[in-house]
Amino acid sequence: QRPLCRLLSCPGTVAAALGREEQSSGSAETGSEDRTPKKRFSEVQKERREQAQRTVLIHCPNKISEKKFLKYLSQHGSINNHFFYESFGLYAVVEFSQKESVASLQNVTRTPSLGTEAAIPFRSRYFNLKLKTPLNQTSEQPSVQCGTQSSPSSKKLFELLCCAESVDDQLNTLLREFQLTEENTKLRYLTCSLIEDVAAAYFPDCTVRPFGSSVNSFGKLGCDLDMFLDLDEIEKFSTHKASGNFLMEFQVKNVPSERIATQKILSVVGECLDHFGPGCVGVQKILNARCPLVRFSHQASGFQCDLTTNNRIALKSSELLYMYGALDSRVRALVFSIRCWARAHSLTSSIPGAWITNFSLTVMVIFFLQRRSPPILPTLDYLKTLADAEDKCIIEGHNCTFVRDFNKIKPSGNAETLELLLKEFFEYFGNFAFNKNSINIRQGREQNKPESSPLHIQNPFETSLNISKNVSQSQLQKFVDLARESAWILHQEDKDRLSPSNHQPWGLAALLLPSVANNMSLAKKKKKPASERIKNLLESIKSSSTENSTATNG
Ligand code: GTP
Ligand code: MG
Repeated sequence: QRPLCRLLSCPGTVAAALGREEQSSGSAETGSEDRTPKKRFSEVQKERREQAQRTVLIHCPNKISEKKFLKYLSQHGSINNHFFYESFGLYAVVEFSQKESVASLQNVTRTPSLGTEAAIPFRSRYFNLKLKTPLNQTSEQPSVQCGTQSSPSSKKLFELLCCAESVDDQLNTLLREFQLTEENTKLRYLTCSLIEDVAAAYFPDCTVRPFGSSVNSFGKLGCDLDMFLDLDEIEKFSTHKASGNFLMEFQVKNVPSERIATQKILSVVGECLDHFGPGCVGVQKILNARCPLVRFSHQASGFQCDLTTNNRIALKSSELLYMYGALDSRVRALVFSIRCWARAHSLTSSIPGAWITNFSLTVMVIFFLQRRSPPILPTLDYLKTLADAEDKCIIEGHNCTFVRDFNKIKPSGNAETLELLLKEFFEYFGNFAFNKNSINIRQGREQNKPESSPLHIQNPFETSLNISKNVSQSQLQKFVDLARESAWILHQEDKDRLSPSNHQPWGLAALLLPSVANNMSLAKKKKKPASERIKNLLESIKSSSTENSTATNG
């Protein structure tokens, strides 16, 4: 019933509305299928990690013959897979079939002599390829097919949304355009693997694992890369060595607390990255945050990276979200749209503060889907009852057990459309009793709030914590106002469905535009006395610096 392409020209406001970090001129070729994952999380992690260890990153000259390039590299072994991408230069990601090929390539690679500057020799898997004779002096034509690692331009997205056939189609389109591509995912695992090589200078058996939206299936192109330095593997090696009445322990340095140990470890790894991590720039050690971290940019991949250590619970949360994302194909589509909607209206931000986080939003969507009748998603407690001995997982005294085999979970009998769910989501949270209730995905029902934070979302594993403790009353109010307004827009559209004469953006596209409520609240704000505005400002500063606020980003 929707007129096709009701609106093809895109108002410039959408660019700002989507608030994406990077604007791309081209579009990422994401493929058309919804890549809803079905494999077990641990299997995916293992496979990707192993793949990344056989992979190298090469900065290439702008003009290069792909054929010759591959022929040259094949001297070191067969190549499974490769792709090129552009990010302030041309890069190639090349995956060999065997790990030995990487060593073979490293053996014929030299450390550059830099004239007046000196190089710190570090044999990484990040190379620089030079041509002895520049290609443009030869007759050969360079033939490299090159993708970008960024999301589609707002203009293109807006056109796609307006041309969609239904709101359901719009939500699926947004998912398809923004989800991480196969290449981008490979690049994320490769980046972690390259960082692991640097951290291994101190901790030879360490593992650097990605977590958060890079792996939980809710990552949007351009999202940050959360990784953690896992030293537990080292522990595992030694547990098997006890025999008879003897028990061997390493002589170690003791420090007063786990937190101090974490800070010391991250401090030296941060130094390593800064001093000899190829491509790691802007290294900041943020060691006093609740969850200490090292933040840096990985220039070649363009990722903003947050490195933490001892973050097993966060990895388990990522696994849980991955599981929920894979259980029903509507979950990811809805989460992506809500995340984009929130970003478009500045409800979320890349800067830590008193605003809601993407993690909290995702948990809210999961909760909402648990509340449908019949439920679309099971509760975490139910997933725990399905777990067997192998699934058992206790981290730092917290029971993080849930079933990991998808086959044990019955699909939902609920057949509601995405359009209905989107509308109901806004209505549900537009009218939620945030003042007295807490959101709890473990039980799948509202609980009385145990403390007075404006928004209370129980941490699924550390159940005494609130994952949205940082959110101020004014930010929560803004969320509620926008949710109500969005429900109203969709409701109005229902009524207008048979008279689509107005050439206006519709459905999801209309929701992503700067809103009336926004303008109204701006107008309201203007009328507020200065003392109240200052109070609000102080409130947000206070909550952004609260120790308990944003667990990972500090
Ligand atoms: P984006 O980076 O915004 O795309 O989403 P993200 O899910 O990666 O969020 P973020 O980078 O802020 O955090 C990374 C991961 O840390 C999340 O996916 C969670 O697993 C975990 N995390 C973030 N915030 C909290 C919090 O407040 N409490 C707990 N327990 N875990 C958190
Ligand atoms: Mg993240």
